[in-house]
Amino acid sequence: MKSALTFETVATCSTTKARASIMTLPHGPVNTPVFMPVGTQGTLKGVTNHQLKDLNCQIMLNNTYHLGLKPGKDILDAVGGTHKFQQWDSNILTDSGGFQMVSLLKLAEITEEGVQFASPHDGSLMMLTPEHSIALQNSIGSDILMQLDDVVSSLTTGPRVEEAMWRSIRWLDRCIKAHTRPHDQNLFAIIQGGLNRDLRRKCVEEMAKRDTPGYAVGGLSGGEEKNEFWQIVSLCTDLLPKNKPIYCMGVGYAEDLVVCVALGVDMFDCVYPTRTARFGNALTMNGIVSLKTGKHSGDFGPLEEGCDCSTCKNYTRSYLRVLIASKETTGCHLVTVHNVAFQLRLMNAMRQAIIKDEFPAFVKQFFAGYFGDKS
Ligand code: GUN
Ligand code: ZN
Repeated sequence: MKSALTFETVATCSTTKARASIMTLPHGPVNTPVFMPVGTQGTLKGVTNHQLKDLNCQIMLNNTYHLGLKPGKDILDAVGGTHKFQQWDSNILTDSGGFQMVSLLKLAEITEEGVQFASPHDGSLMMLTPEHSIALQNSIGSDILMQLDDVVSSLTTGPRVEEAMWRSIRWLDRCIKAHTRPHDQNLFAIIQGGLNRDLRRKCVEEMAKRDTPGYAVGGLSGGEEKNEFWQIVSLCTDLLPKNKPIYCMGVGYAEDLVVCVALGVDMFDCVYPTRTARFGNALTMNGIVSLKTGKHSGDFGPLEEGCDCSTCKNYTRSYLRVLIASKETTGCHLVTVHNVAFQLRLMNAMRQAIIKDEFPAFVKQFFAGYFGDKS
């Protein structure tokens, strides 16, 4: 199908499947591997889009379900899409909405037609179909839009997993048909099939035939064993076309990013770095620093030595600890800025290591630092 992106691999690791590429989207180039911070409602929680831009973020994630409710399709159409609406001139990827409803709303029910749910406003029944999800994402104007998929927990077993896989393929076909802007918006397929290798194989085979501009691996990071998670990611990256971006959905722990990059994944998103910041946890190459405890009360150094984010340039751990302990929103904001900076720096460090063909050494060094003995 038509594509509004180019994907050029500039370096591959000689001992792992890691690769460094440039994905060029309608709102500019994206250096991969990339982490996409999550701005559910059109902004990261506690960080303005201008601040995000200052961190050199090239792509953020928004949610169709939330933007579809607020501001809604009419306002998005009137203003000409969400880039203008939210003052963000870099790239946006939108998730299709079904996953959010199933995970957020206990009342969601999936049928062949779509995902039915009770409106959070008035409890009335609403239906998100593949056609409606795409219509919303066309109005949003995201650079990458995701198909509506039928997601089951990675811990589900039995016939429901296979049903969801085939339904996701049928919904992909409906999404492709409904998509009105393939010339300037890229529709990605989402591989489902749970932890079953045969189902994943079949799903990749069917979806690759649809020839979408990129592919996501969905339905993971839901409490399954790490080894099973890696096996499925690795199987998918082995079978998917090599000349297109591969996106592992909902993955954002530093150690998972490093392993999945080694397995050939190009794109990630997760609420983890921003959410954990609001709990007072700062991410560093030497592991997680908790500002909830008094351990750092007398520490006048930055959150992370060598970090060039505005939080580390201006404030001490001791001061941040006071803000977090007294529940000042500024504390959440400052730690969030640092955590996003950390996440983007980690991805960039991996990219540079791949380009220099030093990725395996980087992996070793990362694990020694992140999980090493700090006593
Ligand atoms: N976010 C995390 N996992 C998934 C998934 O499987 N599907 C969708 N649409 N979004 C996700
Ligand atoms: Zn910092």
